[in-house]
Amino acid sequence: MEILRSRSFVSDAVGIIARESADAITARGVFRIALSGGSTPRPIYEALAAANHLPWDKWEITFSDERCVPPDSDQSNYRMAKLALFDPVGMAPDRILRIAGELDPAVAAENYTRELAARESPYRHDLVLLGIGDDGHTASLFPETAALGVANRPVVANFVPKFSAWRITFTYPLLNAARHVCFLVNGAGKNAVLEHIFAGHSDYPSAAVKPSDGRLTWLLGEKC
Ligand code: 6PG
Repeated sequence: MEILRSRSFVSDAVGIIARESADAITARGVFRIALSGGSTPRPIYEALAAANHLPWDKWEITFSDERCVPPDSDQSNYRMAKLALFDPVGMAPDRILRIAGELDPAVAAENYTRELAARESPYRHDLVLLGIGDDGHTASLFPETAALGVANRPVVANFVPKFSAWRITFTYPLLNAARHVCFLVNGAGKNAVLEHIFAGHSDYPSAAVKPSDGRLTWLLGEKC
């Protein structure tokens, strides 16, 4: 595990993504990246779009989780990425594996599982971007929810009582199969959770993200 305390959070994140993109495409001809939702990644996606020198046609984009809303909802992680990155660079639709949040949650999870398996089975990301909540959740793996215990499926529907809402989320098997997982954290209010995890405690969901044959990076921005 590598903890990077950055004073140039956005550009450092762009650098990590660009390096992983180049390495993956050189090695395998494709860059399999999972985008995180929430608010932290948006300026990073915007900076990627502004750079716009990456081989987008070799990217294969997934989402580490999605809210159960239509793609045009302001709650949609897909919509955030579309506005920040896909539209500005003209990302080809066939590069994007969108989670169909508008469908029945179980159907959406099953469809996504099949979509990943059709490309590679078991599916292995080159880079998974994740955020962390002040309750220690990541993706939509929230404390005391059923998805935390799933060991035999890569993507599931997960009911989140704190929101009284369903989410679609990667599970630990898919997350921990990645070549590299990078947490992107740049907000006040998460330091206690971070220090608890860095001290070796495993009670928060984020602490169980440990790639079995890959790298784990925590990129902490100026606001941490
Ligand atoms: C989501 C994300 C979620 C997010 C954290 C941090 O769908 O909201 O996947 O796991 O990464 O809640 O969110 P912020 O970046 O907004 O703090």
